[in-house]
Amino acid sequence: MEYLPFLSTLCSLILLLSMELSSAADMITPTQFIRDGETLISSSQNFELGFFSPGKSNYRYVGIWYKISPEIVVWVANRKDPIPDHQGALIISNNGSLVLINQNKSIILSSNSSRVPENPVVQLLDSGNLVLRDSHNMSSESYMWQSFDYPSDTLLPGMKLGWNLKPLFERQLTPWKSEDDPAPGESSLRLDISGVPQLVIGTPSRKSVRSGPWNGLQFGGIPMMHNKVFKPMLVHKEDELYYAYEPFDKTVITRLMVDPTGHMQRLVWNEKFRGWRIVYSWPYDICDNYAQCGANAYCRISKTPNCICLKGFEINSEDEWDTPDTMKCVKKSPTESDCRNGEGFQKLARMKLPDINWLNQSMNIKECYAECLKNCSCRAYADLNEGGGSSGCLMWFTNLIDMKECSDRFTWGQDIFIRVPASELGKGVILFTVEQGNAKELLHS
Ligand SMILES: *[C@@H]1O[C@H](CO)[C@@H](O)[C@H](O)[C@H]1NC(C)=O
Ligand SMILES: *[C@@H]1O[C@H](CO)[C@@H](O)[C@H](O)[C@H]1NC(C)=O
Ligand SMILES: *[C@@H]1O[C@H](CO)[C@@H](O)[C@H](O)[C@H]1NC(C)=O
Ligand SMILES: *[C@@H]1O[C@H](CO)[C@@H](O)[C@H](O)[C@H]1NC(C)=O
Ligand SMILES: *[C@@H]1O[C@H](CO)[C@@H](O)[C@H](O)[C@H]1NC(C)=O
Ligand SMILES: *[C@@H]1O[C@H](CO)[C@@H](O)[C@H](O)[C@H]1NC(C)=O
Repeated sequence: MEYLPFLSTLCSLILLLSMELSSAADMITPTQFIRDGETLISSSQNFELGFFSPGKSNYRYVGIWYKISPEIVVWVANRKDPIPDHQGALIISNNGSLVLINQNKSIILSSNSSRVPENPVVQLLDSGNLVLRDSHNMSSESYMWQSFDYPSDTLLPGMKLGWNLKPLFERQLTPWKSEDDPAPGESSLRLDISGVPQLVIGTPSRKSVRSGPWNGLQFGGIPMMHNKVFKPMLVHKEDELYYAYEPFDKTVITRLMVDPTGHMQRLVWNEKFRGWRIVYSWPYDICDNYAQCGANAYCRISKTPNCICLKGFEINSEDEWDTPDTMKCVKKSPTESDCRNGEGFQKLARMKLPDINWLNQSMNIKECYAECLKNCSCRAYADLNEGGGSSGCLMWFTNLIDMKECSDRFTWGQDIFIRVPASELGKGVILFTVEQGNAKELLHS
């Protein structure tokens, strides 16, 4: 008799638990759906999917957020197609695609995969990836559709930023318009692969910030050096080329996002304070603004004015450096040729390398020097191998643009050798000839 109350509590507990379990499922089948107010929770409780209203908005969106930090939405399904009421639902349609419908059963959004699973289920994985897969093949990682292919403003571990080459499509991060509106803003964070891969924030017609090229271990110009939180990776396979990262410690929760002001931020969850800590934010200072100093100049935050012309160039007007659009570094002696005329190279140390480079992976630094000296349109060269990860000779054949001195100890910068006319030699510039041997050793001594 004494045990009865206990037993009934146990029963109700079990009942409660089973209800809890069914409401906290991580997947739906074609007979199920998620209405506004219901959610999916990934199996280890990392992520949750459901309907939400951002900031002051009354519109409803389908999103994925951290279970521990529900205000951080890492993916939004219907960024441009908000639902005005609480009547939306997420279902699996007859043809096996994931569909978001409104009150009138009209389709707001549909996963348009060409491959259709025979036994479709939609599952929220612990990585934060929402996938459409075949329930008879749950071990397979081949998904008919996945949210990771359509990033919003956040890159999670396991996501790819960059290019699928066959078929060609690009994954980029696009910030929210504002805290209240997840619609895509104008700019985006992309992997620029026109030369050695680099990160760029901007619109298709205008770059606003650019990293240095990937050196095999990291991007130059971004304050991410010596970080103990995550391992950055640039993956180049036959049919893809992308940036990704993974935390060194798998229990660390970290994310990369672009905020509505166009800043890229790296954040880490602090369990003790139950909040997010910003590891770095980029752009960091005024010298990060794309082409802040115009061509043939570089930017250094440690001195004023921030801009300085390269040797052999001088500023074209008296108005100082406060109008970046009009300022120009022009040749000091326009008639002096720096082509086979006794010219040399000026070494600039710890620089974010300029934009629009040209790479030859099989040349070492000595050959690189010789090739650049020989070719009159070569403005500068650098050793990509300096980062320790890649090899190759970088050369520039256009005006040098968007160079920054990386003086803080968190930002990777490297040596670049810039062509200067003979008249500038001796002013901190040394002339080298091919015969003098290993250019790198000499220039570094
Ligand atoms: C599947 O159905 C949805 C809506 O029912 C439609 O939008 C979509 O185009 C269909 N996809 C295919 C591959 O037929
Ligand atoms: C749904 O249908 C009702 C009645 O036909 C209509 O007034 C309303 O505008 C529709 N809503 C949407 C979102 O299409
Ligand atoms: C559907 O396909 C079009 C064209 O291939 C693509 O631009 C779009 O992003 C796709 N949408 C979804 C939700 O997969
Ligand atoms: C399971 O997926 C793998 C890889 O996508 C595929 O090769 C295999 O045929 C699938 N098996 C079934 C039973 O569908
Ligand atoms: C790279 O340099 C090597 C050695 O100078 C040369 O043979 C090769 O053609 C160059 N590659 C390209 C793509 O220019
Ligand atoms: C200099 O290099 C550029 C780019 O590789 C090339 O187009 C041009 O032909 C070269 N000029 C000479 C004189 O070798």
